[in-house]
Formats: sequence, C-alpha cells, structure tokens
Amino acid sequence: MWDNVYIMDHPLIQHKLTIIRDARTGPKEFRELVEEVSLLMAYEVTRNLPLEEVEIETPLCRTKSKVISGKKLGIVPILRAGLGMVNGMLKLIPAAKVGHIGLYRDPETLKPVEYYCKLPSDINERELVILDPMLATGGSACAGIEFLKDRGAGSIKLMCLIAAPEGIDKVRKHHPEVEIYTAAVDEYLNDHAYIVPGLGDAGDRLFGTK
Ligand code: PRP
Ligand code: URA
Repeated sequence: MWDNVYIMDHPLIQHKLTIIRDARTGPKEFRELVEEVSLLMAYEVTRNLPLEEVEIETPLCRTKSKVISGKKLGIVPILRAGLGMVNGMLKLIPAAKVGHIGLYRDPETLKPVEYYCKLPSDINERELVILDPMLATGGSACAGIEFLKDRGAGSIKLMCLIAAPEGIDKVRKHHPEVEIYTAAVDEYLNDHAYIVPGLGDAGDRLFGTK
C-alpha cells in the first residue's frame, strides 16, 4: 500500500503489542514489553546492513567469516517515549551510539516543540534509526528527521510501534526515502490526535505520569 513502509507481523511482536495496548498493563510490564518488541524489530531494521568477510581462527582451523561492515549505527530516541525503545536496540547492537532529540507535541497546536538535542559527532557517517513508539500526525517524526538532515545525516530510518495512516502519509510525502518500520498501522486519529485504537499516551504509560 505504501512504499518504504514495513509492518512487522511476526506473531511474537503482535502478541506482545496486544498486551502493550491493553489498558490494564502497568508501567513495569509496559516498559519490559516495549523493550522486547524493540529488540525483535531491531532484527528486521538491521536486515540490510552490509557484511564483509574477515579471517578468524576457530579452535579447529583458520576460516573466513562475516562481520558487519561499512557505516556504523546510531539510534536516536525522540524524548520521552522513544527512550523506552533504546535498551531493546542496544541489546542487539551494543556498539551503536545514542543521540537524543527532545520534542513534545503542543496539546493545543499539535505542533512539535524542541527542547533538547545531543547527537553523536559523526552522524553523517552512521546509519541512523529514529525511535518513537507513536507515529500520529507525523509532526514529531518529520521534525526529528529534519533535525538530523540539517546536521548532516544521510541514512535515516524510523522505527515505531504504532502508526496512524496520517503520520505515514506525512513522512512519505516529506521524506519518501526514509523507511518506516512499525508493528501496526491503526485506524485513525481522534479529535486530540491520539491514535485509535492505539495504546494511549506512550510517555505516560512508560513512566507512570498519569
Ligand atoms: C508522543 C509520541 C511522539 C508524538 C507523536 O510524544 O511519543 O513523539 O507524541 O505525535 P505526532 O506524530 O502527532 O507528532 P509526546 O509529544 O506526547 O511527548 P512525550 O513522549 O514526552 O510524552
Ligand atoms: N502520542 C501518544 O503518546 N499517543 C498517541 O496516540 C498519539 C501521540
């Protein structure tokens, strides 16, 4: 239906996402599951990383074997809720550098407001993955992508848990080369631009702030 949009329909991801969505799931379990789903999604997001052959010695003989080559990875959570996805990624890719972009969505205008940014100095040499569980209007994701592009980033992917069609359309329109990885595409945005059925407010559910 959309180019460059990958929906992760693995049964483990779908099962865990159902528990994440459930309003009865408390912050501890919510955090654990967001981390687990992020780890499972990291497997797909990194599928096309280039490999090179190196020579090693096993206990039996010398042999050639493969390691990841080329650009290194950078992960960039959008604060706050993107933080919940960092550890899952780092478990699979411990050498990744982590940048942070602080954005919140103004409840009146729904426009993203920037309040923090700290990125690895070599982002132009890295494959970057933006982490944010919710792609709603797409305003925050587009602001994050523009942020990184303005600072020299070349390769950018976006990983979220739940996307609304409106958010996907916006990212596709403004940044068609950015691949979007999501565990689900939901139905619509409500009057407050919350994703329906969604999971509620991701930041509040992660950190127990409501
Ligand atoms: C949420 C979410 C995204 C944004 C998505 O963050 O984590 O960053 O909203 O909405 P959009 O696609 O319409 O921009 P929020 O602004 O609630 O901040 P928080 O993570 O600090 O709670
Ligand atoms: N931000 C959230 O945390 N949830 C939504 O449904 C939309 C934006």
